[in-house]
Amino acid sequence: MGKTLNDIMSKIIVTGGAGFIGSHYVFHEAAFPQVQYSIENPVETNEINVRGTLNVLEASRINKVKRAIFASSSAVYGNQEILPINENMQINPLSPYGAQKYIGEVYMKLYSKSF
Ligand SMILES: NC(=O)c1ccc[n+]([C@@H]2O[C@H](COP(=O)([O-])OP(=O)(O)OC[C@H]3O[C@@H](n4cnc5c(N)ncnc54)[C@H](O)[C@@H]3O)[C@@H](O)[C@H]2O)c1
Repeated sequence: MGKTLNDIMSKIIVTGGAGFIGSHYVFHEAAFPQVQYSIENPVETNEINVRGTLNVLEASRINKVKRAIFASSSAVYGNQEILPINENMQINPLSPYGAQKYIGEVYMKLYSKSF
């Protein structure tokens, strides 16, 4: 018999609009994704986009989740002359939002390697 939606959803946690569901996998989508607002409110957006990501990673570590997936942004690369942007391009955030997303990437890699 195939898996029911309930079987699948009980093993996945999603942050953001979908709320928290299960604990085996984490899809971290929650953020304050506004470039201009981050320029005007860098500390407040840092709390949400950086500390929030760290909180999710810590909760994931403590609860021994198998895998965490993070929604980053092209804003980590700033303005590039060549399009489309790809992940081999130089990191060059031009806003607190871009910097905060890059810090999120660094934390994701760190937790993946260290814990
Ligand atoms: N939309 C885009 O074009 C785009 C592009 C690149 C990356 N992203 C990333 O994808 C993700 C989703 O983007 P979106 O466009 O759906 O954004 P959105 O604003 O529609 O959704 C973000 C969600 O995060 C929640 N949230 C914000 N602060 C929170 C907090 N402190 N605690 C818990 N939840 C909180 C909001 O309630 C909202 O439901 C974000 O991480 C964003 O940075 C989006």
